Amino acid sequence: MLPFQLFLTPESFRNHPGVRLILRHLSALGDTFAHPAEVESLAAGDPLIYEFVDLRDGLSGSMLSFGLTVIQPGTIGGEYYMTKGHFHAAQQDGDEVYLGVSGTGLLLLQSRQGESRAIELTPGAILYTPLAWAHRTVNIGADPLVFFSIWPSATAYDYEEISRRGGFPQRVMDQNGRPALVTNPAFHI
Ligand code: PA5
Ligand code: MN
Repeated sequence: MLPFQLFLTPESFRNHPGVRLILRHLSALGDTFAHPAEVESLAAGDPLIYEFVDLRDGLSGSMLSFGLTVIQPGTIGGEYYMTKGHFHAAQQDGDEVYLGVSGTGLLLLQSRQGESRAIELTPGAILYTPLAWAHRTVNIGADPLVFFSIWPSATAYDYEEISRRGGFPQRVMDQNGRPALVTNPAFHI
C-alpha cells in the first residue's frame, strides 16, 4: 500500500482504484421495508435506494476499511429509505465510526440483547457504534444522505441476523411530513 488522498465526495470515492460499487435497488431489500404491497407496486421500476462505495478491496493488508454511502430521499409505504443494516460478525466483531457529510439522517442501533437507540446523522456529526451493536441508516431529509464510514477490515457483515429478528426494534415512519420513531411489532431477539 502507498499513501493516498481522497475527498468526501461520491466522485472521489468512485474513481479510486479497486473500489467496489454496491448498488442496492429495492429488489435487493426484500424484507427491509414493512409494507410488502407497496414494495411490490414499486418493484417494477426497481428504484435505487442507496449506493455504497466500498474501498475495502483497494486496501489489501490494511487494518482499516472505509467507504461512502449515498441514500436517496424517499419513502415506501410511509417508511423512509434506509440501508439493510447489519451486525458485524460475532466471531470477529468490530466497532465503527460514521461521519455525516450531507443531508439529514438517523442511525438506528440495536444491541445483541435488543436494546434500541437512534442518533441523528447530520453534516459534521461523528457517530460511534460500539462492538456488538447492529446499525442501519435512514434518510429522513429531502436530499440524498451522504456519510463516511470506517471499520476494522477483519470484521464481516451479518445481514441474516437482522432478517431473523424481523428488522430493528423501531421503524422510521413519515407522520404528517415529519419522521417519527414507531415500535416495530415484528421485532424479536
Ligand atoms: O459499514 C457500514 O456500516 C456501512 O459502510 C454500511 O455497510 C453501508 O452504509 C451500507 O449499509 P449495509 O451494509 O447495511 O447495506
Ligand atoms: Mn457496519
